[in-house]
Amino acid sequence: MSDSKYLVEVKDLKQHFKIPTGFFGHIDLKAVDGVSFNIKPGETLGLVGESGCGKTTVGRTLLRLYKPTSGEVRFNGELVTEQNITPLRKEMQMVFQDPYSSLDPRMTVEDIIGEPLDVHKLYANKNERRDKILSIMELVGLNAEHATRYAHEFSGGQRQRIGIARALAVNPKFIVCDEPVSALDVSIQAQVINMFEELQEKLGVAYLFIAHDLLVVHHISDRIAVMYLGRIVEIADADELNNSPIHPYTLSLLSAVPIPDPNKARQSKRIILEGDVPSPLRMPTGCPFRTRCKYATEKCAIECPSLTDRGNGHMVACWNK
Ligand SMILES: Nc1ncnc2c1ncn2[C@@H]1O[C@H](COP(=O)(O)OP(=O)(O)OP(=O)(O)O)[C@@H](O)[C@H]1O
Ligand code: SF4
Ligand SMILES: [Mg+2]
Repeated sequence: MSDSKYLVEVKDLKQHFKIPTGFFGHIDLKAVDGVSFNIKPGETLGLVGESGCGKTTVGRTLLRLYKPTSGEVRFNGELVTEQNITPLRKEMQMVFQDPYSSLDPRMTVEDIIGEPLDVHKLYANKNERRDKILSIMELVGLNAEHATRYAHEFSGGQRQRIGIARALAVNPKFIVCDEPVSALDVSIQAQVINMFEELQEKLGVAYLFIAHDLLVVHHISDRIAVMYLGRIVEIADADELNNSPIHPYTLSLLSAVPIPDPNKARQSKRIILEGDVPSPLRMPTGCPFRTRCKYATEKCAIECPSLTDRGNGHMVACWNK
């Protein structure tokens, strides 16, 4: 324990996957290349960025589902290591994107939710186990009759409730939610998002909420971090980021979000990015965004900008903005 005001502190986290290139050779795929952020108890940090920018890898590496290449993660001030990760897993959980592949269809709901209770030995007898499972099911809006049914019998939205119940079973303080609604029908996405919010209010749990969709992220997040090619390029209070974005990449992401008001939509100009996202196997020198940035200067090709505070914790990594 420490007196840090943060629940989760991530400092210069890197995840370089080694991709084989023939006999004995390999090349580094820099999926996450020096990411830092903090999350307070009960807070939601949204993490957005295009497919392949490293969002899932950040979540998995910070929970040590992948061993980090370098960098550190602290939970409640305590450095997370290979040695203490097993007890800490009780505090830090993950909800996965695809509720179809992340739940074993041949297990009953009771056993899916009970498994983490078994692993962490969180009950004295069978009755207590069952009571705990039923109260968590109630919390996520599942009926007691569902307990003996199999995961494959449920719809996507119900399965995601089972996934959330499983994560909540051990009473964690922090959950990485990896695009938890993007595999669901649009019609039920809002219901599930609302449930995440209600659970946070009741339980005081903090989220790292990963999503493609800026509207979803803006709705649920206190703060938002924007990722591009393995790095965070901007991080700010959710409203501030939405109303006063600074980084050229954030501006282009926001300009692509449909605006419901047609008058406003007419005034705003869509910024179309030229070129493709470079491969993380062949990162540009300097700023990772420079190959698509209309503000790029010579310095951008030489040195990678770090995040600097532009006031009120609005952090931006850009030489020219
Ligand atoms: N286990 C792995 N081994 C090697 N490369 C990986 C591995 N996992 C991810 N990658 C690569 O790392 C990069 C980041 O992937 P990641 O899945 O973290 O992105 P993402 O932002 O979550 O994308 P999406 O929005 O599509 O889920 C990609 O280039 C991906 O191909
Ligand atoms: S540092 Fe340069 S290339 Fe990178 S976003 Fe800023 S202006 Fe563009
Ligand atoms: Mg992902």
